[in-house]
Amino acid sequence: MAWKFFLLCLPFASAAVKFQEMFSWNALDWNYPDEYSRQHAISAGALIPENALPVGIERWRNKLFVSVPRWRPGIPATLNYIPLDAPYDPSPKLNPYPSWQGNELGNCDSGLTTAYRIKADKCDRLWVLDVGTYGYDPNVTNLCPYTLNVYDLNTDQRIRKYVFRPEDIVPTTFIANIAIDMGASCDDTFAYFSDELGYGLIAYSWEQNKSWRFSHSFFMPDPLVGDFNIAGLNFQWFAEGIFGITLSPIGIDGYRTLYFTPLSSHTEFAVSTKILRDETKVEGSFKDFKIVGVRGPDSHTTSKVMDDSGVQLFNLIDQNAIGCWSSTLPFKPQNIGVIDKDDVGMVFPCDIKIDDDKNVWMISDRMPVFLEAELDYSDINFRIYTAPLNTLLEGTVCEPQKQFLPTTKAQNLKQNSQLITYTPSLTSVTMPPLPQTQYTPNVLPRLSHVSSSSYPSSPSSSYPSSASSSYPTSSSSFPYVTKNTIPKSESYVNLQFTKETSIPYYTSRAQPETTPRNNYWWYKDYHKNNY
Ligand SMILES: *[C@@H]1O[C@H](CO)[C@@H](O)[C@H](O)[C@H]1NC(C)=O
Ligand SMILES: *[C@@H]1O[C@H](CO)[C@@H](O)[C@H](O)[C@H]1NC(C)=O
Repeated sequence: MAWKFFLLCLPFASAAVKFQEMFSWNALDWNYPDEYSRQHAISAGALIPENALPVGIERWRNKLFVSVPRWRPGIPATLNYIPLDAPYDPSPKLNPYPSWQGNELGNCDSGLTTAYRIKADKCDRLWVLDVGTYGYDPNVTNLCPYTLNVYDLNTDQRIRKYVFRPEDIVPTTFIANIAIDMGASCDDTFAYFSDELGYGLIAYSWEQNKSWRFSHSFFMPDPLVGDFNIAGLNFQWFAEGIFGITLSPIGIDGYRTLYFTPLSSHTEFAVSTKILRDETKVEGSFKDFKIVGVRGPDSHTTSKVMDDSGVQLFNLIDQNAIGCWSSTLPFKPQNIGVIDKDDVGMVFPCDIKIDDDKNVWMISDRMPVFLEAELDYSDINFRIYTAPLNTLLEGTVCEPQKQFLPTTKAQNLKQNSQLITYTPSLTSVTMPPLPQTQYTPNVLPRLSHVSSSSYPSSPSSSYPSSASSSYPTSSSSFPYVTKNTIPKSESYVNLQFTKETSIPYYTSRAQPETTPRNNYWWYKDYHKNNY
């Protein structure tokens, strides 16, 4: 089967250049001024390389930023960079940004304690949220309040410090993602933050220097998909709500669309920034939040990014892969592609970004093994990959719609650029309401309603045998197929790329007895008992 597929795809495979591994590490290390101060840091416990897990990246010109949360002791700096114009080192040491002092643990005034995802914008600003925490659930100390820090990348000076209002957060707040919404000018910029465990979305206006918080049921986890299997570990992250967020290009109405997905969910949601930018919409905007669609099975995701043409990339943590969706197409499993997959190198592709040169950057870090078991430091654990966006999209369902173009016309290029112009697809993908009276299973398609040509090569045996019998027989109950179809696109799931090895990585480390991470109710009890 795999062999046959390989043969079929040979002409494409030889042309496709997927992610290139640029940097890799067994363990992270830092660039100290000299070896003496490094040794001193080690003996003082200020540097414990095996406690460092990189989680966020961002590229700005000659700097590749890498964030390292202070989940354990011995992390000398949470915000770091690798100079891209330095002589190439496949395992470079990290440099603190903007400085060692600017990364001082517990210094709420001029330091940074823990940063997760970071974002550079077109006005050369770097947006960094310091969550102020030291340690990892349940062993967390809140050393500093949630503080937004914005740096001028040209001068390496912090140009804005904003402390979230107490109303912006709740006791369970855990914010790991950030999206930047630039309007007509540098001043007209908003930042959005997803509160994974407090189930909120916080908006910040640069101009007003003010923040507000949205709540919505779409921020909550789907209780049916809280079980995870990654790297041979089985664990439950069932309390994890809104996580990956990204913004569309500016639409015809002058606003972007914020796309978001809870971590324990396979569903994509969206809201216009017209709502988010308006503090008065904190109340009464329930219906302005939309369901975009369902990705398909095994599609938990924590990080997403959309480029100026409206193509969204996101990590598929169950599949050791990066997925894609072109927002010119309805959001449904057939239109979700996999741009690359590697069962060794891409175990937990933690963050993904697209830079101004349309290069994609991705970091993988085997996070579940770090958190739920133990990393093997004789192995490569962290990798940073890069590739041009266009090459990654080649041959996937997300490729700009060139199959519809005349192939000989001289104006091909011009037409192409028109075709990929972004048109917001929010209204067009809004689902018709489900019949209120009838239970509708939302897993498998009603086959009789799907023309056979939409499933070109799928053997019928790949459907569970109970599929057809579990469906109601009334033909009027399925007015649409958008939401309830299983992925059959060849580019989705189980696609084998020829990568460095065919033996998938599974940790050999035993999984200790764990309490489900960040279980909201359990967490509350913990606090009750300890305060
Ligand atoms: C909890 O934090 C303390 C202080 O940082 C540390 O000594 C201890 O090892 C941590 N415990 C766990 C289980 O991580
Ligand atoms: C923004 O608000 C913060 C309060 O968190 C304040 O300290 C800071 O001075 C304000 N900055 C500007 C530019 O208004």
